[in-house]
Amino acid sequence: MLEVQNLEKSFGGLKAVADCSLEVKEGLITGLIGPNGAGKTTLFNVITGHYKPDKGKIFFQGEEIDGLRPDQIFQKKIYRTFQITREFSQMTVLENLMIMPEGQIGERIWNTWFRPPQVKKQEKAIREKALDVLEFVELIDLKNEYAGSLSGGQKKLLELARSMMADPKIVLLDEPGAGVNPTLMKKLIANIETLCEEKGITFFLIEHDMDLVMKLCNPVIVMSEGKKLAEGTADEIKHNEEVLEAYLGGQYR
Ligand SMILES: Nc1ncnc2c1ncn2[C@@H]1O[C@H](COP(=O)(O)OP(=O)(O)OP(=O)(O)O)[C@@H](O)[C@H]1O
Ligand SMILES: [Mg+2]
Repeated sequence: MLEVQNLEKSFGGLKAVADCSLEVKEGLITGLIGPNGAGKTTLFNVITGHYKPDKGKIFFQGEEIDGLRPDQIFQKKIYRTFQITREFSQMTVLENLMIMPEGQIGERIWNTWFRPPQVKKQEKAIREKALDVLEFVELIDLKNEYAGSLSGGQKKLLELARSMMADPKIVLLDEPGAGVNPTLMKKLIANIETLCEEKGITFFLIEHDMDLVMKLCNPVIVMSEGKKLAEGTADEIKHNEEVLEAYLGGQYR
């Protein structure tokens, strides 16, 4: 579904992404792990058009997408969340969902819940969809709270919810589990699994929390020094000597 070929991105003299090639298959939840500074977030930034690659190509469903702007990438139904959550803190939870760009509201995912009898005003439709999504991620009781007042974990759920408003084909999640307590973590994992299995959304997610990766991701790609070091099931990765050296530093041996 998503193919990265010999991608390179430097900042000054530093090669953050260096000759990186990898593939994300449709319908799976692919994990991306690696040490701090391995280039994971930079890779996401290049894929989603926030940085232009210095070299290399990116294909989405066979179409070359490298060099497109973030809004053009968004139009392709490639959606991302950020390592540092980007909610609009002075808006309510519900409003945060309702400000997704006009015309982006897809019906593929939610049309079983949401089927207006006749033509309704788009805003009403958006509102109904937002309420459905909030119900799904169980943030509905907080819909009128300011997003800025949510906990770190709840903000991560809000990011996921925002991505669902866009009716994505693939969602790139940058550390969805960071700062999320165990209860919310279970919810987050269950939500991602449901979205993948029932709604057919493909996920590509960066995560340092190995428990989340083990539970959720197959396959797992390991990135080190800007390129792919290994790929396999979570279990294979756990026992890969090179990976243990580069990343886990022996703690899982
Ligand atoms: N905008 C930038 N300007 C300069 N250097 C950058 C920029 N963004 C990233 N880097 C550098 O590129 C390298 C890769 O950073 P990146 O954020 O992609 O790592 P990461 O794998 O996401 O790490 P972490 O797990 O800590 O989030 C780092 O050395 C970082 O300092
Ligand atoms: Mg990062």
